[in-house]
Amino acid sequence: MTTRLLHHRGELRAALAGRSGGDEVGVVMTMGALHDGHRELIRVARRRCQVIVVTVFLNPLQFAPGEDLSRYPRTLDADVGLCDAEAVDIVFAPDVAEVYPLGEQPQVRIDAGPLGDVLEGASRPGHFDGVLTVVAKLLHMTRPDVAYFGQKDAQQLLLIRRMTQDLDFPVEVVAVPTVRDGDGLALSSRNGYLSDEDRDAALTLSRALHAGVGAALSGSEAVRRAASTVLQDQPGVGVDYLALVDPQLGPPPQAGEARLLVAADFGGTRLIDNVGLVLGPGGGPIDTSLPLPNPRRTR
Ligand code: PAJ
Repeated sequence: MTTRLLHHRGELRAALAGRSGGDEVGVVMTMGALHDGHRELIRVARRRCQVIVVTVFLNPLQFAPGEDLSRYPRTLDADVGLCDAEAVDIVFAPDVAEVYPLGEQPQVRIDAGPLGDVLEGASRPGHFDGVLTVVAKLLHMTRPDVAYFGQKDAQQLLLIRRMTQDLDFPVEVVAVPTVRDGDGLALSSRNGYLSDEDRDAALTLSRALHAGVGAALSGSEAVRRAASTVLQDQPGVGVDYLALVDPQLGPPPQAGEARLLVAADFGGTRLIDNVGLVLGPGGGPIDTSLPLPNPRRTR
């Protein structure tokens, strides 16, 4: 085993102090239950950074009462195994008291601002304050040169980037495209909650996004219509939102870069997905990760 598993910030600091000058440190922050989406973040980090730290911390501050904190999968041994296979240098897996020594409800927090109140934030009030607070803390603990986050959580990525700019965090934020199963379903630690029927229904998300991208040449209304038709045709999908926005979550442009985001409930499991696209003449997909819809399961 080459990966070191550390639980305390003092150990982490000592381990990082021992690195050679000039080494770049890359961090991949996770809540554990690692899958190939997380693996891809690690691999992208590996291409550039000499020292890779993966944090595994299930952050209570970003879960509202009644959300899935208590049933969220905890698989630390397997997570460390995956990290070892990817030659990660350090897995930092602190417990709640290590991260929040003054109590689980810190008095001072990061306020995500107006971008934290829309889309995911409208359905999950306070969620992004909790995310940004722990990301800020973990950035202070790991002091990376580069931090890697997935496009899968596009609003989270935007807010983290915004926090580092607005608050002058000395770190580069790098976005990694969404990793999907062969049938189009975006990988998520929450996919394990899905029954077979729910999983089949969940494929509607990537199909809807795909249909939306297919209408990109015809502009924003056509994109919305194409995507919502796919969602409406599928029973068992509780759509929370389908939104077409510009890269800063504002109204979509007539022509140019936009993002189509969707959130829906499948038998009590809330899933999100999104795709980047260019609207108008010359329009089409930005992300290449979205495969053609395939009704047959390829798992
Ligand atoms: P978690 O859901 O474990 O995700 C950790 C990182 O992996 C995030 O940057 C997320 O966008 C990325 N990721 C998840 N699924 C992905 C996929 N299919 N393709 C590409 N990247 C994917 O997001 C969180 O944890 C937490 O909110 C965290 C940032 C760690 C703060 O607690």
